[in-house]
Amino acid sequence: MQSNDGNTGVLAARIGPGHTDAPRQDTALSVRGLTVSYAEKPAVFSVDATFETGAMTAIVGPNGAGKSTMLKACLGIVPRLSGEVEVFGQPVDQARHRIAYVPQRASVDWDFPATVLDVVKMGLYRSVGLFSRFTRGPEARARACLERVGMSGFADRQIGQLSGGQQQRVFLARALAQDADLYLLDEPFAGVDAATERAIVDVLKSLKAEGKTLVAVHHDLTTVPEYFDRVFMINVRPVAEGPVAAAFTADALATAYGGRLAATHVDQLALAGTSA
Ligand SMILES: Nc1ncnc2c1ncn2[C@@H]1O[C@H](COP(=O)(O)OP(=O)(O)O)[C@@H](O)[C@H]1O
Ligand SMILES: [Mg+2]
Repeated sequence: MQSNDGNTGVLAARIGPGHTDAPRQDTALSVRGLTVSYAEKPAVFSVDATFETGAMTAIVGPNGAGKSTMLKACLGIVPRLSGEVEVFGQPVDQARHRIAYVPQRASVDWDFPATVLDVVKMGLYRSVGLFSRFTRGPEARARACLERVGMSGFADRQIGQLSGGQQQRVFLARALAQDADLYLLDEPFAGVDAATERAIVDVLKSLKAEGKTLVAVHHDLTTVPEYFDRVFMINVRPVAEGPVAAAFTADALATAYGGRLAATHVDQLALAGTSA
């Protein structure tokens, strides 16, 4: 998508990189001092994180580490106790139209009476002026997005009648329909079979090739080096961030997961990271 802030590129070029006042388009998502609390104990505490434009970044950490909460707080779905969130250098409230969000599948009411095509079209309704923006109508566009995730044969199916993997593909199609610049995905591979995982990875990699930014909460540590460029590790507090080869280390894994991963397992995972 052509961004609606085309002047920032010019500005950045004029001022040059490194100028503190220059818009930081090299950062897609910036989180500063984020704290979120549902009760007395914070679920996310004092988190700083920088997600690079054009990269695929995994958010990893144990169950209950605050990964989903962090994404939801960035989007304003849960309130922030403190913290600033910027998207492509703008406060998130002004840049929401540039974000597509795929929630954790378990958090969605699949009994909701809607067809696959309805769900994908919901991704389109957020864009005001959409019907002039796209040459094709919304129906054709939604169908093209279903095709891209291999679900064109299911357009008229009720969403409750899909397998987990098919549901996940439909949610990805809805995100594609939004034509966003930043994709936030919460465990896109949870509960899907190997073929669907491959299909989703291929779509994510093609989005990356188009220059999109991807941030995914990811559960399977063994595939981090294969799928992702960068990693952000969290256990309520930030633990590590950076390129996989530098940040996905045995030390960081041990800090984030504590005793929950056997030491030998941690070493192997980190080795996989350095060889990628
Ligand atoms: N809606 C909620 N109300 C109260 N507590 C919640 C809510 N959502 C999550 N939590 C708690 O916040 C913590 C972080 O949860 P979550 O962000 O879902 O972790 P993760 O996605 O890393 O598994 C957990 O202790 C969880 O029980
Ligand atoms: Mg979660």
